[in-house]
Amino acid sequence: MSNVIKNGTIVTADRTYKADVLIEGDKIAAIGANLSGDQVIDATGCFVMPGGIDPHTHLEMPFMGTYSSDDFESGTRAALSGGTTMVVDFCLPSPGQSLLEAIDMWSNKSTRACCDYSYHMAITWWGEQVFDEMPKVVEKGITSFKHFMAYKGALMVNDDEMLASFQRCAEIGGLPLVHAENGDVVASLQQKLLAEGNNGPEAHAYSRPPEVEGEATNRAIMIADMAGVPLYVVHTSCEQSHEAIRRARQKGMRVYGEPLVQHLVLDETEYANPDWDHAARRVMSPPFRNKQHQDSLWAGLSAGSLQVVATDHCAFTTEQKRFGVGDFTRIPNGTGGLEDRLPVLWTYGVGTGRLTMNEFVAVTSTNIAKILNMYPKKGAVVEGADADLIVWDPEATKTISAGSQQSAIDYNVFEGITVKGLPKYVLTRGEIAVDNGTVQAKPGHGQFVGREPFMAVSKALSTWKELVAPRKVERSGIPASGV
Ligand code: URP
Ligand code: ZN
Ligand code: ZN
Ligand code: ZN
Repeated sequence: MSNVIKNGTIVTADRTYKADVLIEGDKIAAIGANLSGDQVIDATGCFVMPGGIDPHTHLEMPFMGTYSSDDFESGTRAALSGGTTMVVDFCLPSPGQSLLEAIDMWSNKSTRACCDYSYHMAITWWGEQVFDEMPKVVEKGITSFKHFMAYKGALMVNDDEMLASFQRCAEIGGLPLVHAENGDVVASLQQKLLAEGNNGPEAHAYSRPPEVEGEATNRAIMIADMAGVPLYVVHTSCEQSHEAIRRARQKGMRVYGEPLVQHLVLDETEYANPDWDHAARRVMSPPFRNKQHQDSLWAGLSAGSLQVVATDHCAFTTEQKRFGVGDFTRIPNGTGGLEDRLPVLWTYGVGTGRLTMNEFVAVTSTNIAKILNMYPKKGAVVEGADADLIVWDPEATKTISAGSQQSAIDYNVFEGITVKGLPKYVLTRGEIAVDNGTVQAKPGHGQFVGREPFMAVSKALSTWKELVAPRKVERSGIPASGV
């Protein structure tokens, strides 16, 4: 059974051109004029693009005394409905737990995924066992390792642990990721705010100012440089962090930054809302920032100093958010966005001229496929690639509303926003998951995507680091010690 997408304009990260796309089984079989297949998908007036890849999700994540409410089934259904055809979730060992055991747990969670997925491994503790298991994790196709510099007393790792893990990443060809916030300073600010009676959700933002993120980003960049590894900074939310990444890149360092669509569009005034639920539903780390920070992030995407737009989808219900009534530090951190990332970014990016269509494809799909070493299987419209494709109708509109979303939670942080540009058809490895706007995702269709270590940039960096490594100067005639 073959499908052919006809009459559309293909938009990739580097080209825009008219052609048909023939899909046989789960792969793109041909691209060209006048192709025919068993079933025709009409893309008249539409753009044919690689499916979105969201490299930052937390589905059914154990966190802050509860579990995030979208699991792999509802989360990936939400993803597909918005044009995202792959997610990369975080495998999160509890302190002391084997990394391999944690992979088994995540494999059990993901059996009903509707689209393809991969994992990053979180380094939540450090010891000989973690050191020994890291190469085994890589053998299983998980080549990126996340480090939380925040969440003191829970997920946070210290600098010595981070350095040791980054060095191990250099040896095994892994890519370190960081959540960059100074966890010690955040913990201290939280206690101060609570002691002063500041216990509402707005205090969450006061406890995590941009400087705290900027410092941690600089520190992580320095540690990655010492270890000789590339670095990927997740949820870059402010100019201070962006500036650190931009400066590092200008010096030739291999550092990547990932703003979230929420930070690009929603701002800190959300926390001043008199409705406690409204503000708490938007509590996430880092918090939403002001317009100047948003401008910085948009500029980074068009200038190329920031490469990827993700969601950090970590959805908690209003009931779960209310764990933090009277103490903002107990509000589960996280917001949704999987379903809305592409339409919202298209509307606020392409629709305003802040992004070209090709840049849109780059930051939602192609760049991360390259960074995570799965290109062109994913993130490309080329013969032989997985047929993860969107037929995008730039004229279609909708007003975002929790009432009609796929996500399991009872609200949407983008509620009331009207988007222009929506997927008409979405294909996940050749299967139609959105058919003329109707979602028909199939639980269990999604497959794990294993990745190879030592991406080109890691090899280049380690070659360079080896060349400039300290070398002992061999001397004859060393003078006697002066003592
Ligand atoms: O608030 C957030 N971002 N929750 C999810 C966990 C994380 O820090 O990425
Ligand atoms: Zn984080
Ligand atoms: Zn996250
Ligand atoms: Zn299937």
